[in-house]
Amino acid sequence: KITTLVATAALSTLLVTGSALAGGPVVLKFSHVVAENTPKGQMANKFKDLVAERLAGKVTVEVFPNSQLFGDNKVLEAMLLGDVQMGAPALSKFSRYTKKLQIFDLPFLFKDMSVVEKFQKSPKGLELLDSLKKKGLVGLGYLHNGMKQLSSSKPLRVPADAKGLKFRIMSSDVLAAQFKAVNATPLKKPFSEVFTLLQTKAIDGQENTWSNIYSKKFFEVQPYITESNHGVLDYMVVTSKEFWMSLDKDVQVELKKALDEAIAYGNQIAAQKALDDRQKIIDSKRSEIIQLSDAQRNQWVEAMKPVWEEFEKQIGKDMIDAAYQANM
Ligand code: LMR
Repeated sequence: KITTLVATAALSTLLVTGSALAGGPVVLKFSHVVAENTPKGQMANKFKDLVAERLAGKVTVEVFPNSQLFGDNKVLEAMLLGDVQMGAPALSKFSRYTKKLQIFDLPFLFKDMSVVEKFQKSPKGLELLDSLKKKGLVGLGYLHNGMKQLSSSKPLRVPADAKGLKFRIMSSDVLAAQFKAVNATPLKKPFSEVFTLLQTKAIDGQENTWSNIYSKKFFEVQPYITESNHGVLDYMVVTSKEFWMSLDKDVQVELKKALDEAIAYGNQIAAQKALDDRQKIIDSKRSEIIQLSDAQRNQWVEAMKPVWEEFEKQIGKDMIDAAYQANM
């Protein structure tokens, strides 16, 4: 009798597990660090909605914003372990997995977002989407945020103004070199800690896009923002090879289609948000926006440009040349 009971219990466990595998929807957790009212936040929510519409019963997307699930230092590790299926870290946060993407951090390499877009769509740019393959990650597409500005407790007009100041940076050696080039001290810190570090004056400044400065209220604790447009903050939407390959082919195709549409939507928002959030910061009067004259801007370019050569070996000269050419 006992044997029968055990056998029945074992059988029902098997059935439950079996049916969950065959019938239940695949849960796709999308983790990110920014607020929902940002290009990335909006893109992730759009992706979730499109999947709910088109793949009901097959895939459910759950979005976790504001570093709720994983901060930016953990998300890729968690993805490889299968604890999260999708994310879109800034291109500056992949250096443990590839050195190639460092190209996007080179100061003053891209004149504006149209150049970034052009380069990303070129053969070299597309080649970079595959740069994580060997590490078990699949690059599904680029997503824009925008050009970075310098915010600080002191007005920054020329590089000498940054001397001795502490700046929070993303985990990128190129960004570290960029601030060292103006004799400032870079500190690699997760995005979730930036507001408090600024508020408590543990650091003097940081670099970010208008939408991040606005949505995370950095402008409330930074009296000056220099409109430097010195670098780009963009993302790569990534998943793990293991998860991606486990999907049925038709599901994979539909997911990619939904993602491409969500990215196009996010990119549109990115362009508009940069303008709107910049204006909201001006209107708040909490922060003074500093415009650089051509001569002042040239000083920043001159001071920071040697960083290109410093990283030429790791990134590849052909890559840098291709990106530079996109400005023409
Ligand atoms: C940052 O850490 O400053 C950004 O990468 C945050 C983000 O994802 O936009």
